[in-house]
Amino acid sequence: MSVPRYIALIPAAGVGERMGTSMPKQYAQLAGKPMLQHVMETFSSSSLISHTYVVVSANDAYISDLPVMPRTTILKCGGAARQDSVTNGLLAISSETEDDDWILVHDAARPGLTHDLLDKLIAFVKDDAVGGLLALPMVDTIKRSDGHGRSEMTVERSALWSAQTPQMFRYTQLLQALQQAQQVTDEASAIEAMGHRPKLVEGSARNFKVTLPQDLLLAELIFKDQGLS
Ligand code: CTP
Ligand code: MG
Repeated sequence: MSVPRYIALIPAAGVGERMGTSMPKQYAQLAGKPMLQHVMETFSSSSLISHTYVVVSANDAYISDLPVMPRTTILKCGGAARQDSVTNGLLAISSETEDDDWILVHDAARPGLTHDLLDKLIAFVKDDAVGGLLALPMVDTIKRSDGHGRSEMTVERSALWSAQTPQMFRYTQLLQALQQAQQVTDEASAIEAMGHRPKLVEGSARNFKVTLPQDLLLAELIFKDQGLS
């Protein structure tokens, strides 16, 4: 059996509806470059990652303006939801992957990922039977709304984490989990639905997901202060 490789898969086929701009948010300018370019460079320049695949939509009009990078392939097979984009990407690379290869799925909208975080995730998960993800323990007191703008109760926080990416799982198990799962918003949910428990590896606030217009400003600040790891 060959040694499992680490392969990155970046879903970048969303429209960025909540960002409210005409251009998909992954192409928004951040510290002088499109956000997606930062993410692609982080993976392309990592010595641990053997190949990076970027999943964009079939009608993407912007990806061809980005520089060509080593060991990086663009797949124009995005789907209606993130889960479909990841599944389509996995199907598209089936002839280039082994069952046990690790797939690291990372949102195009998380430009704050560093080599240190990537290396930490791989170090903590590479010998795990299931796989795992970067995530952050909750720090605030958590409220559950009654659906009408009032706090119904305070939720016990100590067991709560918020999921980030990358999320790393073995190729065949991940593909099967995503194909079986109903509408999940991350890979770990699909793996959990199969009865497994992905490992939680502490990430960083800088690896947040750019979702709303004001998030771009915060991402700019983080890029200016590279000391924040
Ligand atoms: N994504 C994808 N295919 C989709 C939807 C999302 O590849 N059909 C990707 C996005 O490009 C992003 C990541 O999944 O890199 C996380 O999704 P999200 O932050 O929700 O991005 P969007 O779906 O683009 O934003 P919104 O939900 O506001 O429309
Ligand atoms: Mg979305």
